[in-house]
Amino acid sequence: MDRRIVILGFMACGKTTVASELARQLECDFTDLDAFITQRCGRSPAEIIQQDGEDSFRELETLALRDVLQQNDARVIALGGGTWTVPANRTLTGLHDCMTVWLDAPFDLCWQRITESNETVRPLAPDHAKALGRYEARRAAYALAEHRIVISASDDQETISSQIVPLC
Ligand code: S3P
Repeated sequence: MDRRIVILGFMACGKTTVASELARQLECDFTDLDAFITQRCGRSPAEIIQQDGEDSFRELETLALRDVLQQNDARVIALGGGTWTVPANRTLTGLHDCMTVWLDAPFDLCWQRITESNETVRPLAPDHAKALGRYEARRAAYALAEHRIVISASDDQETISSQIVPLC
């Protein structure tokens, strides 16, 4: 199999839509880690965080990432917004020699999209100050990705994916 591609970045930066479009352009399968967790657990990441707490969710998330990488049936993988900030998860993608791509979207764009979505979807971004705090705290970890794609509000998923294809 060709090298797998892991798409990462802050909540609402466009990971799932870009990963889906990238898989279309590369004619391969893609897996969304949040959707995988939802299917496996019968609860969404947001529900798990609200009911069991973030630490419990992170444990499930690492197990899910390990299994997605071992199953080896999707070339493109979209992470959740916090997945890449956990060192064990970065180790896992490294062990599987994944190419990692950070979608670096400005905070204002992420926040606008977060507020447009259902407020129960992202319990870790309940208000502007908390979301901004997480955004800033995570940037150093996101910057450890192999590639960084700078996103602006006018970029659609086709444009963004077309920048990733030549890296693959
Ligand atoms: C999280 C982001 C969510 C989801 C969970 C935790 C985070 O995914 O994995 O709610 O810590 O940033 P999205 O980035 O798709 O919103």
